[in-house]
Amino acid sequence: MKTKMLQADEQGLTIAAKIIRENGIVAFPTETVYGLGANALSNEACKKIFTAKKRPTDNPLIVHIADFEALAELVVSPSAEALQVANSFWPGPLSIILNARTHLPPAVTAGLGTVAVRFPSHQVAQRLIRKCGCPIAAPSANISGKPSATRAEHVMRDFQGKISAVIDGGPCQVGLESTVIDGTTLPLKILRPGAITYEMLKQLVPVELATVFSGGQVLSPGTKYTHYNPEAEVILIKGSILEIQRKIKVLNSEIKNYAILGLGSIITEIDLNQASIIETVDSIEALAERLYSFFRECDAVQIPHIILHEVDEKGLGLALMNRIVKAANVVYEGDRQ
Ligand code: TXA
Ligand code: MG
Repeated sequence: MKTKMLQADEQGLTIAAKIIRENGIVAFPTETVYGLGANALSNEACKKIFTAKKRPTDNPLIVHIADFEALAELVVSPSAEALQVANSFWPGPLSIILNARTHLPPAVTAGLGTVAVRFPSHQVAQRLIRKCGCPIAAPSANISGKPSATRAEHVMRDFQGKISAVIDGGPCQVGLESTVIDGTTLPLKILRPGAITYEMLKQLVPVELATVFSGGQVLSPGTKYTHYNPEAEVILIKGSILEIQRKIKVLNSEIKNYAILGLGSIITEIDLNQASIIETVDSIEALAERLYSFFRECDAVQIPHIILHEVDEKGLGLALMNRIVKAANVVYEGDRQ
């Protein structure tokens, strides 16, 4: 199979919708990361996603919709709190787990009896779903375990020859996967942090962070697998600027060829004389947007080590640290003083 790169225009979307209606797979942009999309009402189509991604079959898929009415066709008896959250943050980077209607394919729900639903804000995603006339099941468009793809060319690198088409919608604005909340419990539970933050949610409804972050019971099947790993060794340095300076001084004598990505306010204070790639950004949002594409670009030029520094675990910083910690092969714990 030759994988087509489609433009995000009327013609490209018409071709993509036809492929999905005929139970093929098309990768498409969302505001978080690219998704590997299939007709969510077809078990046969959804099974192809698992093969292409090399994804374990016990890991359920997120179903994407493009209007509020579609929710009722997928779920039963959502709580008032879950609906309140949907009404406030949809369309947007938030997936809500609800009790699934029984007609949903087992490939989508992994037999859990629940389904994660998301109404993305990306215009291309919305137009595609409407053109298909069916909800689209889509995990992140990366081979399992690799960083999610936030650029069409990164999807192509993983899936060339394995899927029918990729719609090129340019870079994804958020760059990290959606917040996943369990809407079947009260308080609502955040299973995966994202751009709809704990702080934003708790202003609205009772909500808590799942203990799964610290290795408790696995509530969301996907959180137990290794994730986001580039080929390069990822080194995370925790602690104050002083600690980071100290640690990098040591690393400068130990490793010769590394890439570093971080906030300008921190990076400019550090002697990086052995770095091959130095990239600074000026906000947590920009760091999130860039993280996975930086990983993939470093792999493309075979950089052996990538250094990152800790950020505050508040707002989007919680999601960013969640991904960085999972990607990290080595963590240096420094003093925060
Ligand atoms: O931003 C995103 O969420 C992207 C875009 C394409 O929408 N999708 C995405 O999908 O990241 P994926 O499959 O890579 O991650 C979905 C996560 C997994 O950890 C999965 O286990 C969890 O959501 N999940 C899905 N359905 C679930 C369910 N019924 N119960 C518990 N966890 C569920
Ligand atoms: Mg994923």
